[in-house]
Amino acid sequence: MGGRTEDVLILAIESSCDETAAAVVKNGRTVCSNVISSQIETHTVYGGVVPEIASREHIKAVNYVIERALAEAGERLEDMTAIAVTYGPGLVGALLVGVAEAKAIAYAAGKPLVGVHHIEGHVAANFIENPDLEPPFVCLIVSGGHTHLVIVRDYGEFEIIGRTRDDAAGEAFDKVARAIGLGYPGGPKIDRAAREGNPEAIVFPRGRVEGSPYDFSFSGLKSAVLNYLNHAQMTGETICTADVAASFQKSVVDSLVSRAVAAAQEYGFDKLAIAGGVAANTALRAAMEKACKKSGIRFYYPSPIFCTDNAAMIGSAAYYEYMKGNLAGWDLNAVPNLKLGERG
Ligand code: KG4
Ligand code: ZN
Repeated sequence: MGGRTEDVLILAIESSCDETAAAVVKNGRTVCSNVISSQIETHTVYGGVVPEIASREHIKAVNYVIERALAEAGERLEDMTAIAVTYGPGLVGALLVGVAEAKAIAYAAGKPLVGVHHIEGHVAANFIENPDLEPPFVCLIVSGGHTHLVIVRDYGEFEIIGRTRDDAAGEAFDKVARAIGLGYPGGPKIDRAAREGNPEAIVFPRGRVEGSPYDFSFSGLKSAVLNYLNHAQMTGETICTADVAASFQKSVVDSLVSRAVAAAQEYGFDKLAIAGGVAANTALRAAMEKACKKSGIRFYYPSPIFCTDNAAMIGSAAYYEYMKGNLAGWDLNAVPNLKLGERG
């Protein structure tokens, strides 16, 4: 019958960094509401996320985003099947706000609690708009804190085949944006500036890790950009910000695309997905699309709003954990350095 009682409705909460978010997700794939309260403006004056301020802003916003998420979905708390929350990795104080809130709501309403790994959420963002996507597939995870190439063996089960040896891809975007005066948040600003620039103007190195074909390294690239800027400043050359942005971005995109596509081919997968904030990058999406098409690989990607931090992705991942019976106890705690594929 597909009746109402069979639907699994999850209220999900996300507060691991600088977005306070809540969403209602049905059966893991249908987003009934997706509310995001961003703190970007508050942190912009400081040039980055200030953890203490983030925690306080989450406290101010969390009840409101939850109420909005339920209202926009046209649902009541009583109708939820379970309450889900990101419990790591992330800023400890920020995570604690969401975890405490989710525990209080779940306990008071007599609902089961599901703890979700933030990165598992990013990967699950791909399930929202791609009803046909099912594991196994290869996924490139590129966020502010993570750069991982994984095989998604099953829902919530990852085999890591590559990772960054130094900076995460998003971190490189943020640091270079600061160096060329674009400010915070760096990723979207470089993305925009690069559209006006020439990606071939400056040849920056493509970082590689000897003997580890699927690992990434961005610190050499970051230094190369800084050296270029210093040299130009010393010799009085004018710097074309758009060209630096476009050339830097091209180097990152080349490194990401070449490894992801090679991994899919080597491991014999014809499905490749991208996840995390950097997956919103227009150059990365275009280059990945082109390379996948050439190699006969199906390319999956979430809409930009589901790439950067949101609670809908947490609700999607939570559905699969709930179906597996992975429920959290009332002692669920924030785990700031939770590793991928680990349960805290
Ligand atoms: O996944 P996310 O929202 O938060 C973390 O879990 O880290 O990722 C944030 C990162 C930041 O480094 C931000 O600069 C980057 O994603 N980012 C982008 C774009 N949008 C966000 N990087 C490149 N291009 C973008 N359009
Ligand atoms: Zn994230």
